[in-house]
Order: sequence, then C-alpha cells, then structure tokens
Amino acid sequence: MNYPFWDVDIGYGILMPLIAVIHVFVSHFAIGGGLYIVVAETAARKAGDTMRLEFLQRLSKFFVLVSVVFGALTGVGIWFIIGLLNPGGTEVLIHNFVFGWASEWAFFVIEILAAIIYYYGWNKLSPREHLIVGWIYFVAAWMSLFIINGIITFMLTPGEWLTTGNFWDGFFNPTFWSSLVLRTGICISLAGLYALLVASRYPSSPFKAKTVRYNAIWGLAGLIVVFLSFFWYKNAIPGDVMAHLAETISMPFTAIDQLYVYSAILAVGFIVFGLFIPKTFHPVTGVILMIVGLLWFGAYEWFRESARKPYVISDYMYANAIAVADVESLQENGLLPSIAYRTGDDGADLYRRVCRTCHTMTGYRALKPKFDGTDVDFIAAIIRGMHAMKGNMPPFPGTEEESQLLAAHIYNQVDHRHIKTIYNFEGIELGRKVYEIRCGKCHVIGGYNDKTESLVDLSDEEYNDLLDMAGDLGEEMPDFTGDDTERQALIEYLKTLTEGGAQ
Ligand code: HEC
Ligand code: HEC
Repeated sequence: MNYPFWDVDIGYGILMPLIAVIHVFVSHFAIGGGLYIVVAETAARKAGDTMRLEFLQRLSKFFVLVSVVFGALTGVGIWFIIGLLNPGGTEVLIHNFVFGWASEWAFFVIEILAAIIYYYGWNKLSPREHLIVGWIYFVAAWMSLFIINGIITFMLTPGEWLTTGNFWDGFFNPTFWSSLVLRTGICISLAGLYALLVASRYPSSPFKAKTVRYNAIWGLAGLIVVFLSFFWYKNAIPGDVMAHLAETISMPFTAIDQLYVYSAILAVGFIVFGLFIPKTFHPVTGVILMIVGLLWFGAYEWFRESARKPYVISDYMYANAIAVADVESLQENGLLPSIAYRTGDDGADLYRRVCRTCHTMTGYRALKPKFDGTDVDFIAAIIRGMHAMKGNMPPFPGTEEESQLLAAHIYNQVDHRHIKTIYNFEGIELGRKVYEIRCGKCHVIGGYNDKTESLVDLSDEEYNDLLDMAGDLGEEMPDFTGDDTERQALIEYLKTLTEGGAQ
C-alpha cells in the first residue's frame, strides 16, 4: 500500500521517542499508581490510619490528572506520529489487531471513568464502594497494558504469526508473557518512585519514615520483578535474532549495559535512603531517583526498539515499510512503478521511500557528511550494498538503474570538492579519512566486519592490486573510485595498520 509522504527536516528517530517516551512513562505510572493506591488504601482503612488516607488522597489527584489528561493526549499523539512515520507498518498493525485496539479503548474509557469517580469519591462513597472503584480503575488500566503489550511484543517477535497469520499467534507471541510481567514490574517501581517523591516533602516524623520505607519496598519489589523477568524476556527472543544483533549493531547491548547500571543505582538508592535512613528522605534524593528510574525504563524501551532493527515487524516488514517478501520482485522489476505518489523527481521519490525513515540529509543521522567528496558510482554501489554496512540496514529494494537515480539525487546535495580540500588533511590523516568514507562504512577497524588482518603488511604493489580489484572482493563491495591522491593517502594509512588494530 502507498501513502503520500510527509517530508519535514526532523529525524523520525527523534520525533517518535519524544511523544512515545512521555506516553509510555505516563501510562506505566498510571497503572502502577492504581495498584499502589488500592493496596495502600486497603491497609490504611484496616488500620484506621487517617494520615495515610490523606496522603493517598493527595496521590490520587496526580494519578487521575495524569492518566486522564496526559495519557489520553499523548496516546492520540502517538497515532498521529506513527501514521506519519510509517503508514505501511501502522496499516499492518491495524489490519491485524483492530479488535485488540477496540478493546483497549474500551478499557481506557472504563479506566478514566473509574479514576474520576475514585478521585471525587474519597469523601462521598462508602469505604467499600470506594475500594471497589479503585480496583476497577487498576484492573482496567492493567488490561489496556495487557492488550497493547501483545501488539508491541508482536513487532519484535511475531513468532508463529509469520506462517499462520492468526491473530492469537501474533498476540500471544514468544515475548508476550515475559514482557507483561516485566512491564508490570516497571509499573510497580514507578509507583514507588512517585510515592517516594510525594513523601519526601513531608517533615521528618515517624509517619514519614514509615511511608518512605513502604514506598521504597514498592520500588525494590518492582526492580526485582523487572530484573528477573528481563532474563526471561531476553531468552524468549529467538537466538538467531540476538546472534545477528551481536554481529551488526552495538545499540541494544549498550542499552542492556545501561539497564544494569541504572538498576544498581536504584537498588542502592532504595535500600540506603529508603530503608536505612527513611526519616530524612530529601526531595532532591527523590528527584534523582525518579530521573534514574525513567532512564532505567528508557533503557529497556531502547533495547526493545533497537533490537528490532532493521525491521518494523521482525522478518515481515522493514523499518522503511518495504515488506520482506516483496524485496526480490522489487529488485527485479523496480520500486518506482509501485510508488503511487510520485513527484516527477524519481531520485527524490526513491530517497523518501527507501532512506528517509531513518536518515535526513543534514540533520538527524545525516547522509551528506558520509558522502562529501565522493562520486556518484561510489554512492550507487553503497546503496546496493547497504545491507552489508554497519547499522543493520535493510537491503536496497530496487533495480541497479534505480540505485543510480537515487545516488544522483544524493550526489547533487553533497560537497563536490576533493576530500583533501573539504577536510584540509594531508598524508596519513587524509588516508584515515578516505578509509572512513570509502571503507569504514562496512569495515570498522577493531569492530564491525574488520578486515585489518587482510590489510596489514602488504607491499605497495599488493595494496594497488587490492584497490584495483576492490569490486571483486565481495558482492557488495564497491570499486575503488577515488583518484590518485586519495589512493596514495589510503595506502599510506593502511601501511600504519597493525594486526592489533587501529593506529
Ligand atoms: C532501517 C533504518 C535505515 C534505513 C531505511 C537506511 N538506513 Fe542507513 N543507517 C541506518 C543506521 C542505524 C546506520 C548506522 C549509523 C551509525 O552507525 O551511526 C546507518 C548508516 C548508514 C551509512 C553509514 C554511515 C557511516 O557511519 O559511515 C550510510 C552511508 C547510510 N546509512 C546510507 C543509507 C542510504 C543511502 C539509505 C537509503 C538507500 C539508508 N541508509 C537507509 C539505518 C537505516
Ligand atoms: C558496501 C560495503 C563495503 C565497502 C564500502 C567496502 N567493502 Fe570490503 N568487503 C565487503 C564485503 C561484503 C566483502 C566480502 C564479504 C565479507 O568478507 O564480508 C568485502 C571484502 C573485503 C576484503 C576481503 C577480505 C578477505 O577475506 O580477504 C578486503 C581486504 C576488503 N573488503 C577491504 C576493503 C577496503 C580497503 C575498502 C575501502 C576501499 C572496502 N573493503 C570497502 C563490503 C565492503
């Protein structure tokens, strides 16, 4: 399916997190808060603890406001953004999960109504009725997580759905349960964090100590749930997906490292400030822990999003909304005929359709600096070999001729001066830059698809031979199209390489 394009100079990779991050934080707060409040209210009513009940009434104001106003607004915002970013992917999701979404909205309406009644009912409803409304609020909120969790996990691990196309196979996919438990843990921790922040503003007293300790236990409990379920979750991701990631991109692994670091900071914070010295729990500590908590949650989301690349739906559709099954026929018959909204500038249309989801020319993940000082044949070869580059990109879904059209479109926008002039480099410095631009996209020294071993200790003649036959070394490898200056500088640089890696 084809859609008109929306081309402003914003990286979609920035736009989406901007709205999604807010929405996701808010919605998990609302769920965790719902559980916290009803559990704490039950205990407070039993103990006849009026101070605690007052504290809870204060908390509930935030949760109601947040879930009703922020949750709803940003939720609708997400629909606008994903529709703009990736109409093709959105369409697949809607076609498959329309009933899922319809029921999510039904739960959302119940959640909001219950939240409002709960908030205004503190002094009007009987304790029993009030608690019942509270439980309705929490269960409805958690049910909307249950449903959206099925759709989000589906995108990373569609599992059996790929062959059956069955709604339930896609919904209860391999990471469904582990992710549900993990997200529930996140909700619990976030509730603890927020309640800590509110409690931090109370003057030092036995009540404050008790409340802070109680809230820190919530934070810790959620943290433990997340910690354990993350391993379950990671193991539920098919092994070949993880192995492929390990080879191609570092992002998901950086995200995991960060997740561990933030978990450790939170654990120490909850234990030291929450359990050992709760009486003096300071608002600044509360704010810092809250920020770490959001980063911690963000690291998990970042892992999940980056682990899915280059797909929007794993093994089914690439992030640029090209269906995996269509690639071969597009490479044979061309992509242009399948683009319904053409502008007359074929190169630009191809660029929007193939690269624009993930790159801009000069802004977010800019392409111009990667091609400044190169030539159109090099750019075309890079486009045809894009799946071999670092960054885990999808294959080029078009013909050789289309790769030339797209290359010409990019070439028109780059700096046409000599690399030497653009960067004002000489000798080895220049050679390093030539390597970075002409080779480093596919062979990172000491990193992705490193070829140092084949590049050390050659004679001038051997280096020249290697560059002469560059295009034959690998199917995706471009011919060396740089001039003599570039060639000599590159060779000079290659001579400085040692088996051990970079110089
Ligand atoms: C699914 C998203 C996606 C699509 C679609 C995509 N790219 Fe990329 N591209 C990336 C990512 C991620 C990187 C890695 C960036 C990094 O390592 O910093 C990358 C890296 C690159 C690089 C290498 C940058 C370097 O560090 O040397 C070039 C060149 C490039 N892309 C060109 C293209 C072109 C041309 C297209 C369209 C034909 C395209 N990409 C389509 C995601 C994508
Ligand atoms: C678009 C991606 C791409 C670019 C750019 C690229 N290569 Fe390659 N290169 C490949 C692929 C693919 C292979 C063969 C398969 C493999 O080993 O990954 C390869 C193979 C090689 C080999 C053979 C290694 C061996 O097994 O002996 C060498 C050496 C090499 N490249 C060096 C270079 C140099 C030097 C440059 C820059 C002038 C360069 N490559 C640019 C993709 C690329």
